[in-house]
Amino acid sequence: MFRRFRRLRSNSTIRSMVQQTNVNTEDFIYPLFIRDGEGIKTEVSSMPGVFQMSIDIAINECSELKSLGLNSIILFGIPDVKDSIGSDCLSEHGIISKAIKEIKVAHPDMYIVTDLCFCEYTDHGHCGIIHQGEHTVDNDATLEISARQALIHARAGADMIAPSGMMDGIIETLRSVLDSNGFENLPIMSYSTKFASAYYGPFRDVAESSPSFGDRRSYQMSPANLDEAVMESQEDEAQGADILMVKPALAYLDVVKEIKNNTKLPMAVYNVSGEYAMLKLAGANGLIDYDRVLIETMISFKRAGADIIISYHAKEVAHLLKKGITL
Ligand code: PBG
Ligand code: ZN
Repeated sequence: MFRRFRRLRSNSTIRSMVQQTNVNTEDFIYPLFIRDGEGIKTEVSSMPGVFQMSIDIAINECSELKSLGLNSIILFGIPDVKDSIGSDCLSEHGIISKAIKEIKVAHPDMYIVTDLCFCEYTDHGHCGIIHQGEHTVDNDATLEISARQALIHARAGADMIAPSGMMDGIIETLRSVLDSNGFENLPIMSYSTKFASAYYGPFRDVAESSPSFGDRRSYQMSPANLDEAVMESQEDEAQGADILMVKPALAYLDVVKEIKNNTKLPMAVYNVSGEYAMLKLAGANGLIDYDRVLIETMISFKRAGADIIISYHAKEVAHLLKKGITL
């Protein structure tokens, strides 16, 4: 018995054969931030290597992604004009609708997921409509316009819709509107367990979506509550979600595992902007062996039970896998 594990560790062939968890390029969804214009590629200062880009540049980006074996993207729109209800995302001429259509023409085989929310489109930066004269989000009014946004995405050719605003009843609402408009086969990936987290800081720079007043604690979850996290996911499963998600990822791997054990759906993690920034800056300053930390981190998501990883690191991981990096 003694030395059992060592016998399989001493040779690299058998070591990889018995490796229980693996990462593959097929596990990843790569986020793209799209804005109006042409030839635009602006790096986000808090996220080195991440860019806001116009549609033409995004189309080139997709060619690069495919050459790396990355066939799936999630789109975020940054409209030129924002207003109180996020009109841009309710129009078929809005930035995301245009982006889906044009990317699909150039890359019909690219799998396009859309983030469905309002914070990138509203001038106040909240994830829904604000009650008249108050500073709180009107859940039910937001459900109505979410249904409209979902149809805009579906009609433009999205392959999957990912509602991220944490409104109550959103999955049921979207499932029913999609079904009754001929989109029975369009899957919904729910941002089912989304914490009110400070790890989203850099994203709000890139999406220009920081709330202008208050915060998101009334609709996002407390990092302290595991049972609530599991229940939110179970509710979304019951309402008809096809994939569940935990966001952020790294500080919440226990939540991933707990949900995995208490639901039956495939699971995604969102390896968010703050997590990306931390590794990037530590790597850039020579404080860690960046490549190894990166793979170790991705493995930890899979080990916890994630099937899908949404990550700004996806291209780097694909390069490392190509090179044949080992743990
Ligand atoms: C929109 C949305 C956010 C993220 C994904 N979708 C921002 C937020 O809730 O503030 C965060 C992603 C990241 O930090 O990388 N609701
Ligand atoms: Zn939002």
